[in-house]
Amino acid sequence: MVSEARFLSNTLAFAQRVHAKCGPVSRGWWMFGQSVYLMSAQANEMVLSDRAGRFSAKHGWERVLADLFPRGLMLRDADDHRWHRRLMLPAFRKEALARYLEAMTPRIEAAVAQWGAAGNLKFCPAIKRLTLAIAADVFLGTQLDSEIDRISADFSDLVAASVAIVRIPVLGRTYARGVNARARLAGFIRERVAQRRASQGSDLFTQLCQARDEAGKQYSDEEIVDHLIFIMMAAHDTTTSAITTMVFALARHPEWQDRLRQEAQRVGTALEPGCRNGPTLDDLELMTDTELVFKEALRLYQPLPTIARRALVDVEIHGKRIPAGTPVAVFPIQVHRSPEWWSNPLQFDPERFSADRAEHRRHAFAWSPFGGGAHMCLGLHFAAMQVKAVLLPLLRHWKWSVPAAYVPDYAYAPIAKPRDGLPIRLVRV
Ligand code: HEM
Repeated sequence: MVSEARFLSNTLAFAQRVHAKCGPVSRGWWMFGQSVYLMSAQANEMVLSDRAGRFSAKHGWERVLADLFPRGLMLRDADDHRWHRRLMLPAFRKEALARYLEAMTPRIEAAVAQWGAAGNLKFCPAIKRLTLAIAADVFLGTQLDSEIDRISADFSDLVAASVAIVRIPVLGRTYARGVNARARLAGFIRERVAQRRASQGSDLFTQLCQARDEAGKQYSDEEIVDHLIFIMMAAHDTTTSAITTMVFALARHPEWQDRLRQEAQRVGTALEPGCRNGPTLDDLELMTDTELVFKEALRLYQPLPTIARRALVDVEIHGKRIPAGTPVAVFPIQVHRSPEWWSNPLQFDPERFSADRAEHRRHAFAWSPFGGGAHMCLGLHFAAMQVKAVLLPLLRHWKWSVPAAYVPDYAYAPIAKPRDGLPIRLVRV
């Protein structure tokens, strides 16, 4: 329990200490039970790429996620996982992303205008409100503000409960609030499945209701409930974390903020009134400097710091044997700051991802914020799109800063974010 508390209070310091003392393979407490800690790019590769099917994601994640996010994609293995993932793929292809982008743009523009007008802003809760509203709209197809507010509140409770240490549904406690929130969300979705199976909408919910495999088989109503709740969880906090870190890094490094603003102004010129309403995916593709900062933010403050699996057979890594049945946790957070792969690893240096330097290519799993292998993040293109869609109007219309002495106290787990919500000051460009 002591290592549990240390893990949660500062995952990075915990990982660095464990690695320095015990090397890349050790044993300890991880999220409600014993685990083998694996801290190397080689271990990331062995566990995540896992071509031979020697590790189970389902049995790795179930102790954290099974009660509140049961049967989501990360809680499925092998053929079962492949079938469920394949049926979902069209909802994450380019044509679908283009429709989501169009739907989210007005909401982003309105939120960014409001942030700036406020002058002083706690950025983290503000972006969280926006990503939740986008998720309710783009994933669930819900446009009513009252419903969006209720869904957002339920989601916040659900995510908070998934890492609650006390996992007994005692009235009024975090875990009980999560259980109740899940029941309400499930009811909300269940009531609408029949109607969505017969409708034409372009939201993710409707697409999952209509997806069929070659034999015409569809997701059951309950599978749709499980997948949607899981995807909303996987999507909003991670992207919130990435955008928050980018906003902090750009406040701390104004030369990068200026550079990205010039890029946004170039892309934005075509979007002026009388031209087009919002950016297209092709416009966002032009934001290559923003992409560098996105990658560097994910390296330094990886939203999901550790990834869980369970060994299904005996395996060996770095000369140590891991018996079948052992839970393992890989720690990309440690690898992301390892001098073995990165020059000046603690320094914010987005150019390290440029074509010339390409430090992330030194090992296929030196940079793995989205995981890898069969469970590699399904929403990584969605995430990049949303990040750029938010940064574009923010950079074009506002400059922001933090006080020179400001040092954020980062909570790295369960999702990386500054504990104080990241207060920033905005002024018009
Ligand atoms: C910066 C943002 C994001 C980060 C850092 C991130 C990170 C990850 C990671 C590390 C995994 C793999 C977990 C494992 O191997 O056990 C994962 C899986 C997943 N992510 Fe993301 N994610 C992000 C955004 C999103 C978004 C926006 C969506 C949906 C729109 C999404 C949907 C999923 C799904 C469905 C899975 C499960 C895939 C499977 O098991 O086959 N993620 N994500």
